[in-house]
Amino acid sequence: MSRPYETIKIKKEQTKTWITLNRPNKLNAINATMLQELSEALDTLEKDKVRCVIITGEGEKAFSAGADITELHKLTHKTAAELSRKGQQVFSQVETLSKPVVAAINGYALGGGLALALACDFRIASIDAELGSPEIKLGIIPAWGGTQRLAKIVGVAEAKRLIMLGDRVKAEEALKMGLVNKVVPPNKLKAEVKALAQRLCEYPPAALKHAKYAIDSGTQASFEYGLKKETEFFAQLFSTKETKEKIEAFWSRETKKRETVKSD
Ligand code: COA
Repeated sequence: MSRPYETIKIKKEQTKTWITLNRPNKLNAINATMLQELSEALDTLEKDKVRCVIITGEGEKAFSAGADITELHKLTHKTAAELSRKGQQVFSQVETLSKPVVAAINGYALGGGLALALACDFRIASIDAELGSPEIKLGIIPAWGGTQRLAKIVGVAEAKRLIMLGDRVKAEEALKMGLVNKVVPPNKLKAEVKALAQRLCEYPPAALKHAKYAIDSGTQASFEYGLKKETEFFAQLFSTKETKEKIEAFWSRETKKRETVKSD
């Protein structure tokens, strides 16, 4: 059982779990408490039987407007580095969770809010969502993995536009850039995300985990390293029961078909 949280809400729905960033009056800005609570919740979910995690924001206005700016003014060189490392560690927990994570982007996803969404495996956005990395306007840069993941997902040219110019894009443009997977009307967001999560819940967890890790290994390190990891994860799957059963079932079906053709 997770402890009661101050800045996030956890809701279980059969095999899916919703994490809701819960500071709606501050557009779900991510403060130190929220980072810590997210980290603890992810630790718990890693051990839990849950098959898919969904992250969203409370209220209709924001997924998250980013790092809590009121906590930035007192930072020194040392504490800024600590805050950066903490955010990176928590968002890496999201990225490396052994189950799929879906971001349900229900409004602004800015700065650290966008960085969090980028660490998820899928991003479904409401049509009125706006995404961007406005840190440059405060004289800072994304420091919770945003510089790396944004470039990886939308390419260097668009990452430089968003980060170096601070441009905000609407959901439809984000879709064209490949920044989100799908855009839906606000009243359909929950249902759409649930349907996607349900599809994910129906696939073998080990195959999903290895697919996710293989893709991420390839984009995070060298291409050669990625190929090696792809081989390693692929081979590992052949010692799991579900993979063996599925391949066996296909093989038996094909063998039967061939035998029927021969006897005709
Ligand atoms: N950190 C702390 N508080 C934030 C915040 C943030 N990143 N973003 C919004 N808030 C707070 C506002 O201060 C305001 O609080 P208040 O009602 O106590 O004054 C509340 O959330 C609502 O925000 P507000 O600015 O009034 O809403 P808006 O609709 O006029 O504007 C935004 C929405 C998202 C455009 C605007 O809030 C904004 O630019 N936020 C900062 C985004 C940013 O720079 N993120 C990167 C941080 S490194």
